[in-house]
Amino acid sequence: MAKLFTPIDFKGVTIKNRIVMSPMCMYSSIAEDGKITPFHLTHYTTRAVGQVGLVMTEATAVQKEGRISPQDLGIWSDDHISGLRQLNEQIHNNNAKSGIQLAHAGRKARLESMIYAPSAFPFDENSKKPQEMSINDINETIDAFKNAAVRSKESGFDIIEIHAAHGYLINEFLSPLSNQRKDEYGGSAENRYRFLHDIIEAVKNVWNGPLFVRISTNEYHEEGNTLEDILYFAEKMKEQDVDLIDCSSGGVVPASISVYPGYQVKRCETIRQETSIATGAVGLITTGIQAEEILQNNRADLVFLGRSLLKNPYWTKAAADELGYTIKAPTQYERGWK
Ligand code: FNR
Repeated sequence: MAKLFTPIDFKGVTIKNRIVMSPMCMYSSIAEDGKITPFHLTHYTTRAVGQVGLVMTEATAVQKEGRISPQDLGIWSDDHISGLRQLNEQIHNNNAKSGIQLAHAGRKARLESMIYAPSAFPFDENSKKPQEMSINDINETIDAFKNAAVRSKESGFDIIEIHAAHGYLINEFLSPLSNQRKDEYGGSAENRYRFLHDIIEAVKNVWNGPLFVRISTNEYHEEGNTLEDILYFAEKMKEQDVDLIDCSSGGVVPASISVYPGYQVKRCETIRQETSIATGAVGLITTGIQAEEILQNNRADLVFLGRSLLKNPYWTKAAADELGYTIKAPTQYERGWK
């Protein structure tokens, strides 16, 4: 039996297969309100109909000033709940599980308003200079993640993923490239981890469901986090009962990245082996055979697919055909999927 099509359980939430729709910003909210639109409903539901096991939303802003763009999806207000609830109903009606990626853009926010970061350095010469966060700003942001978790629960999500990758706010705290603070949130790996630590604890106070964290496992810079730092963070997340580390890379500072099939899988495998925490592999995973190899060789527990699922919402069916495996078709498609 193909491992790609075996179920997996996280804290009582059973995902029917190992295929996850990777979070992907659609910049499709209108009027800067962060709300779900008909496009989002169609877009995510189509992947659920296509038999993806876990449909993860795009980066969803926990604070208005934490959006990447004015069109980002948001969860900073109770007004967002009804749209997100409708989205969850549609995903669940099509037998998929739903996840929400909670995010704050930090210094990578492309907004007119003030933007925030651990230290007052812009991402690059074309970027706006952020304001260094005070302890009060830090506490408010930790609270915003907690409030977003409460709203995620009220909206019916099965899984929460914290976005701590790609050079956005949490990653900016984790990385020595962007964190030059002199207080307890900067300096040593332990101090740089403190912001993520506090967010995880705050979320856990209000959320007892599965919790994933996406990190950048490689910063492609000699002064960035080392593999040792990354393994330290992974150990800490395991201690905090995080269910899975979603292993991405890059984005903290401009860097050239060598991209090839499965380019992020190696570190994903190392984290899984060294810390025994479940991992998700992502990045140029395009075929069923490639996904199956990653799972069978215990290099990851889940595979996240981004662009492959944008190109083909029925990638799951194509992968099953490739692996000679029969999956149950959505009732409406039974005659066509034979
Ligand atoms: C992304 N990616 C991304 N990652 C993330 O953590 N949150 C996000 O909101 C987004 N947004 C986003 C939008 C679009 C259009 C793309 C193509 C990508 C990264 C994505 O989740 C994934 O990690 C990468 O695309 C690599 O996987 P693939 O596309 O090679 O399968």
